[in-house]
Amino acid sequence: MALSRSQEPQATLKPTKTARDSDAFEQTLRPARLSEYVGQAKTKEHLLIHIGAASKRNEPLGHTLLHGPPGLGKTTLANIMAKEMGTQLRITSGPAIEKPGDLASLLTNIEQGDVLFIDEIHRMRPVIEEVLYSAMEDFALDLVIGKGPTARSMRLDIKPFTLVGATTKAGSMSAPLRDRFVHTFKLSFYSTEEMEQIVERSAGILEMNLERGVAQHIAGCCRATPRIANRLVRAVRDFAQVENESCISASRTASTLESLGIDARGLDSTDREILQAIVSKFGGGPVGLSTLATVIAEEEDTLEDMYEPYLIQQGYLQRTSKGRVATQRTYEALNMQAPENVQSPLFLS
Ligand SMILES: Nc1ncnc2c1ncn2[C@@H]1O[C@H](COP(=O)(O)OP(=O)(O)OP(=O)(O)O)[C@@H](O)[C@H]1O
Ligand SMILES: [Mg+2]
Repeated sequence: MALSRSQEPQATLKPTKTARDSDAFEQTLRPARLSEYVGQAKTKEHLLIHIGAASKRNEPLGHTLLHGPPGLGKTTLANIMAKEMGTQLRITSGPAIEKPGDLASLLTNIEQGDVLFIDEIHRMRPVIEEVLYSAMEDFALDLVIGKGPTARSMRLDIKPFTLVGATTKAGSMSAPLRDRFVHTFKLSFYSTEEMEQIVERSAGILEMNLERGVAQHIAGCCRATPRIANRLVRAVRDFAQVENESCISASRTASTLESLGIDARGLDSTDREILQAIVSKFGGGPVGLSTLATVIAEEEDTLEDMYEPYLIQQGYLQRTSKGRVATQRTYEALNMQAPENVQSPLFLS
């Protein structure tokens, strides 16, 4: 594309994300190009094709929806897409756009081919969504100016752009919004080998020396999630640094993970609390989400978005129409004897 402006992402509107997204540490470790982005092979392959084709046609990339559990690389991928297209990234999030005017001011300031990243897009208000439809389809804004009998509608043209939406809850998005995305990519949990590469990459950037086997150990304990891997790398580095160790040993890694409450399966204390509650308080389930959330004193959303996807993917938990149910693996994780009638994760869908 004939665009050679600054590549620096620009933050726009009020940030609604927690501190984690502005964490300088996360920024340092965030891959900047597709070639540095580990795993998600199919997504990368398709993105390369679409980016290549759009660049050849000198057109913006088609609107893209990224969905998947937290910390798997959606924001990272949005940054990379803008970089690979040679355009600017503008960042906002669904709840930050309060009025149609907020969205209008964002879109009218956009340059040809820019990537507008809307995080938590499922939390966007319906009235904002409606303004977005024509922006996505026709690169135009249909706005109502004024109120009451003097109100009139106005159509404003905007420059062609790419909308990248990210969500942990694609199911909560309205169908008309979902259908307006040209590309949809689901990010999945990473394999242990991929996690090992991510740990090694982060350790390299932080100039850490890892003893043999350390990267593999961390990789197996981070819930298949790059953000958690990076947190563990940072924790291990701190624990080693206070002891003046220049090389991260296997025993330092083990003691750090233990003091963080992470067990040999990579489950943390909240994971175990969830499993324990289902087994000991509800006889293995089924138990409803809200009851479970109350018992472990977590928000329903946190439980559903942050904890359950990994536990379900690993077969530690089953989600049924009646509620959450323990599996054979739940009892194994808790070092308990499973009752005879419990489901084996092998038979779970
Ligand atoms: N494929 C990857 N390769 C290497 N590092 C990665 C990859 N994906 C993510 N990371 C690392 O994990 C961190 C978290 O990723 P990111 O912020 O993109 O997750 P997210 O999906 O946007 O999470 P959330 O849903 O919470 O916003 C990044 O800072 C980056 O360092
Ligand atoms: Mg993100």
